[in-house]
Amino acid sequence: MARRTVLITGGTDGIGLALARLYASAGERTIVVGRRSAEEVLERLPPRVLYCQADLARPDAPEVVEAFLVEHDIEHLDILLHNAGTGWFGRPEEQSASSIDEVIDVNLWTPIALTHELLPHLSAAKGKLVFVTSMVTELPSPEFTVYAATKAGLEGFARSLRIELQGEVSVHVVRPGATRTGLHAKVGLTSEAARRRVFAPADEVAQGIARAVDRGLPWATIGMVNRLVSCLGRYGEDVLDPLLRFGRRPWGRSRREPRKIVVTGAADGIGRALAHQYVSMGRVVFGIDVDADKGARTRAALNKLPGHFEFLRADLAARETYPTIAGWLEEKGPFDIVIHNAGINDVGPFRDADLATQRRLLEVNLRAPLHLSADLLANETISAHGSLVYLSSLSRYVSYPGAAVYAATKDALAAYARGLSITAAERDIAVLTVFPGPTRTEHARRHSPDNRTEGKRMAPDELAKSIVTAISARRSHLVPGLGNAAIAWLGHCFPSLPERIMKRAIWEKVRESDPTGRS
Ligand SMILES: NC(=O)c1ccc[n+]([C@@H]2O[C@H](COP(=O)([O-])OP(=O)(O)OC[C@H]3O[C@@H](n4cnc5c(N)ncnc54)[C@H](OP(=O)(O)O)[C@@H]3O)[C@@H](O)[C@H]2O)c1
Repeated sequence: MARRTVLITGGTDGIGLALARLYASAGERTIVVGRRSAEEVLERLPPRVLYCQADLARPDAPEVVEAFLVEHDIEHLDILLHNAGTGWFGRPEEQSASSIDEVIDVNLWTPIALTHELLPHLSAAKGKLVFVTSMVTELPSPEFTVYAATKAGLEGFARSLRIELQGEVSVHVVRPGATRTGLHAKVGLTSEAARRRVFAPADEVAQGIARAVDRGLPWATIGMVNRLVSCLGRYGEDVLDPLLRFGRRPWGRSRREPRKIVVTGAADGIGRALAHQYVSMGRVVFGIDVDADKGARTRAALNKLPGHFEFLRADLAARETYPTIAGWLEEKGPFDIVIHNAGINDVGPFRDADLATQRRLLEVNLRAPLHLSADLLANETISAHGSLVYLSSLSRYVSYPGAAVYAATKDALAAYARGLSITAAERDIAVLTVFPGPTRTEHARRHSPDNRTEGKRMAPDELAKSIVTAISARRSHLVPGLGNAAIAWLGHCFPSLPERIMKRAIWEKVRESDPTGRS
């Protein structure tokens, strides 16, 4: 076989280093990307490995890697292995803002941006795009909430992108289980806690990854025991998670009717319908939205109802607004219910996507709710016995070709909420994740490639009512509507089936309406 060109991110330690040694010893042209200086890694890497120094937490990392390939006359990439990863171990509210940002950027945003940058090299070789995630994506991960969110996000991205790139670049997800590397110490897991866990050697895991990639498996969990545990986490969620929450929940609950509710993205669509529901019930709703005019109109309309609506204009895409939002919430709180509803989308082939827009989407849909949640919990702005609600999407079950980054953020949010529900149970805070299907909003109209069946979409008021009922019942999971629930069940049990349907139902229409005609 001709020598392949393999690029491995995070190849300076652990699994990545083992992969680099493996590919180099097999005679492949191996490129390692790492943040350490060349002198530092000289001793570790095999002699013929090409080393590109790039800090993957920095926004310019994709351009640095691309410049390196140009400098070395590398046009074809046979395998791009997104392996670099970082994390943080501990209670979600104790994770610092900078650590949340680092985990999101290294584990999720940079792999997305780097994929975008290097796609032409992969296409030229009909290559393989590989994401190293983790088996935590199938498990509730209360001590690794942001890490699990980013790894689940990568999987959502990969699943949707696979449909887009079919026949051109193959997309693979490999999930290692606990592996004997320096990662655990780096993320703050004490050696005593680490000793109690079962670790596989990095070389063995690297061999498992390389085998899965060579066999062309779309999904692979490395190790038999890990496959069994993942299965339990995936199909046993309805038993496992309530048990874990029950174990942490305090005795003697003192619940009361919710009075103060926060809704993000409250000026329009589902957020406005939710605010309308609660204000009609005589509650006080604090709405946040970027659109000042719509916000003012919503305030005027809702303040004719029995309750009260207050409005803050804030752009969740701008990190500098987080302190303003947190300050407002601290002043107005504590709250009984906080609904993270704000979300934006941008539909079209990923290859042609404007990365700045995709980044904005990640900020609004994922970074903002993760930061705000940590603040709300740390400052106790969310009441004990209250509810935190996260609006994910049906795409979690069926993928979303043409909106791979959107799908990534929604998978990430769902995984975050799953882990958070375990630690939040200690204060009897219920965590609900909602997976809406197509809803009759301006948002859906703007982003759908075909609005002829708009009338069949769920009305926002109907969706809002079912969310309010699920919050009152302290449910953890809601797929609103029977049709959506059936689709979600299919996607959960037979993941490749809805992917095929989504190819025809969405992707082919997105392609037809692609003005560039390149997809
Ligand atoms: N170990 C496990 O139990 C386990 C389980 C499941 C999944 N995984 C996943 O497997 C992958 C490899 O993990 P590992 O256990 O081998 O961890 P590791 O030994 O810490 O290696 C991670 C690699 O990523 C690099 N990296 C981290 N932040 C970076 C940044 N900002 N810029 C550039 N490179 C950066 C590290 O660089 P430095 O050498 O400079 O630190 C290192 O080369 C990760 O994606 C991890 O999430 C690991």
